[in-house]
Amino acid sequence: MTGPMTNKDKPKKLPRHLAIIMDGNGRWAKRRFMPRIMGHRQGAKAVKEIVTAVRELNIPYLTLYAFSKENWSRPREEVEALMNLLYDYLQREVDELLGNKIRLRAIGELHRLPPKVRRLLFETMEKTAANYEMQLILALSYGSRSEIVEAARKIAQKCVSGELDPAQVDEELFASFLYTADIPDPDLIIRTSGEQRLSNFLLYQAAYSEFYMTETLWPDFDRNELMKALHDFSGRERRFGKTSEQILLRCTGNES
Ligand code: IPE
Ligand code: IPE
Ligand code: MG
Repeated sequence: MTGPMTNKDKPKKLPRHLAIIMDGNGRWAKRRFMPRIMGHRQGAKAVKEIVTAVRELNIPYLTLYAFSKENWSRPREEVEALMNLLYDYLQREVDELLGNKIRLRAIGELHRLPPKVRRLLFETMEKTAANYEMQLILALSYGSRSEIVEAARKIAQKCVSGELDPAQVDEELFASFLYTADIPDPDLIIRTSGEQRLSNFLLYQAAYSEFYMTETLWPDFDRNELMKALHDFSGRERRFGKTSEQILLRCTGNES
């Protein structure tokens, strides 16, 4: 365990919202001739370390892709093991979340979670609801396409019922129908284990996110790996369609 962060280690520019696709637990276990579940268990330890580090850095939003809608089609024993790990994590970490003023939230088709897990999840969300220092958002049974389709369906219903005029439907209104309605778009998305895809994660919200892919498997992703990603992000110029010159002028406050 490394000591607390000093100012020297801190990147100049930090994301306001960091999102992580935590991948590679299975391969981590396979390399050690262990069952996949051991990789997931080790992955839960990495979650703890990264949540602590993100809190210390004062990054206000952290979203972790923990279980996709597509992951339901994994072998039953693996799904059960993952649900049990989620239950254990919530049980073990609630005091830590409260102590560090972290609000827990979840996005996804939460009604599909086993009742026992869902109950504890909602209980933990309620207990931590007043916390303001950081939001930890777990993407559980999450699929971005269905999130978008669901938003479109709700908007269509409101148009049919007359509550909404189709002319009012713009990007801002559309986003307010997503799970992430009051959460800013992710500035940085990290994916571990060398895969270079989004796997149905925050498709709408990632329109202008920076991506950082690393070969490191999730159970090996520690504070140092996180700092590497954040330093990389810090050195990037986000142009949002503008020219580099416009961005530089804006930084010096000379933009007309
Ligand atoms: C990520 O690790 C955890 C979940 C998707 C739940 P994987 O289980 O996908 O690990 P690999 O990709 O098989 O190595
Ligand atoms: C993406 O990982 C989902 C999570 C990290 C929870 P997967 O391992 O399920 O993604 P694919 O199937 O390889 O794209
Ligand atoms: Mg995977």
